Amino acid sequence: MKDKNTKLWDGRFNEATDAFVEAFTASVDFDKQLARYDIQGSIAHATMLQHIGVLTADELAQITTGLSQIQDSIAADRFTWSIALEDVHMNIEKALTDMIGNTGKKLHTGRSRNDQVATDIRLYLRDRIDEICLLLRRLETGLLDLAEREVDTILPGMTHLQTAQPVTFGHHLLAWFEMIERDHARMVDCRSRVNSMPLGAAALAGTSYPIDRKMTADLLGFETVAMNSLDAVSDRDFAIEFTAAASLIMMHLSRWAEEIILWSSAQFDYIELPDRFCTGSSIMPQKKNPDVAELVRGKTGRVFGALTALLTLMKGQPLAYNRDNQEDKEPLFDTVQTVTMSLIAFADMIPEMTPKRDNMRAAAVKGHSTATDLADYLVQKGLPFRDAHEVVGNLVSRAIELGMDLPDLSIQELQQQSSLITDDVFEVLSLEGSVNARNHPGGTAPEQVQKAIAEARRKLG
Ligand code: ARG
Repeated sequence: MKDKNTKLWDGRFNEATDAFVEAFTASVDFDKQLARYDIQGSIAHATMLQHIGVLTADELAQITTGLSQIQDSIAADRFTWSIALEDVHMNIEKALTDMIGNTGKKLHTGRSRNDQVATDIRLYLRDRIDEICLLLRRLETGLLDLAEREVDTILPGMTHLQTAQPVTFGHHLLAWFEMIERDHARMVDCRSRVNSMPLGAAALAGTSYPIDRKMTADLLGFETVAMNSLDAVSDRDFAIEFTAAASLIMMHLSRWAEEIILWSSAQFDYIELPDRFCTGSSIMPQKKNPDVAELVRGKTGRVFGALTALLTLMKGQPLAYNRDNQEDKEPLFDTVQTVTMSLIAFADMIPEMTPKRDNMRAAAVKGHSTATDLADYLVQKGLPFRDAHEVVGNLVSRAIELGMDLPDLSIQELQQQSSLITDDVFEVLSLEGSVNARNHPGGTAPEQVQKAIAEARRKLG
């Protein structure tokens, strides 16, 4: 039996859609998240249609009022979504027609769901990028405040997770700042390509109505109009770019999470996380686990997965729109949600960690971390670097034999390996001597860290 009352497109159909197919093809369960943007796009489109004489002023007023009421009922969770109406676009259009009658049927003039949905996602993503940028800034500010407090704190810098050379904690934190700053720049760059309007491309070839695309774009705050109708309806590069930028954010947060987890272990014991950011164990009463950091590390996989999903979604598609594209939304929404929550977690937690400065220092003192400084000292006194490396290697070996650290060796022990060594060596072997010596832009000396913080604050404005 033909059911002409449910579908907005069933004029050429002779039987009702199979129930399974209806459920399989419907997207409303997830694309209803786009409702606000769908309505915003429709109001702009209708305003343009009135401007070019396709709608009367009265029709436009009815449409605008109707859509605003629908918006209110959706916001108040009073709207009834129907799977039979497939997606957010047709649910809203049908509700409008039910509310205002035949005028509602005119809204879709000169438009297709293909350019409509591409517009909705771009409007949605533009807002989400702005929120993400604010969160990145909040994280950066918290990071700089913490770095400022830890300009002089010393901990062992590591390579291969082995003690390498002492660094200031402020400097270590600024490494994270650099990463987050690049993440911010990538989001801003991505936004410029998100901010281009597909509307007007209609199904794929454009429309025969004398539309004013510039007007619609201005109403919606789009910087540019997508210049090729085939590309406009099918392009999802912007979603892939966003997910790639989000993947880098998550990769950074995951590396950072890893440090936080290591540092809060009894073995490192460099930081204390506030209790409110941790959880306990149901069996081991002593436990305080860094779950927030662990979950951020764990959630990173979802975003990498979404990137792969979107790239794969697009790779086999001929021009122009294909229904495959409906599959862009869930990975995109999940990415937005995951990266946003992870950034909130970090922006809240980072400024609240308490560094255990004594433990950091004690760790830096161990492991002969100033051995390179001693080699450089010998070079300054005229020894070729390779010979200096050998001398210091022997001294480290001697220190290990004696169960000491390099700076604890007596002057006599030191001089047994090289007569070039004099009393001034102990300043060179000290942690402060080591970090202060690296006093160039990008170096770990407290003076440089201060400058880098000031420069970063200037950038943030
Ligand atoms: N729900 C669809 C999507 O998300 C909307 C566009 C459908 N267009 C079509 N010609 N069936 O892509």
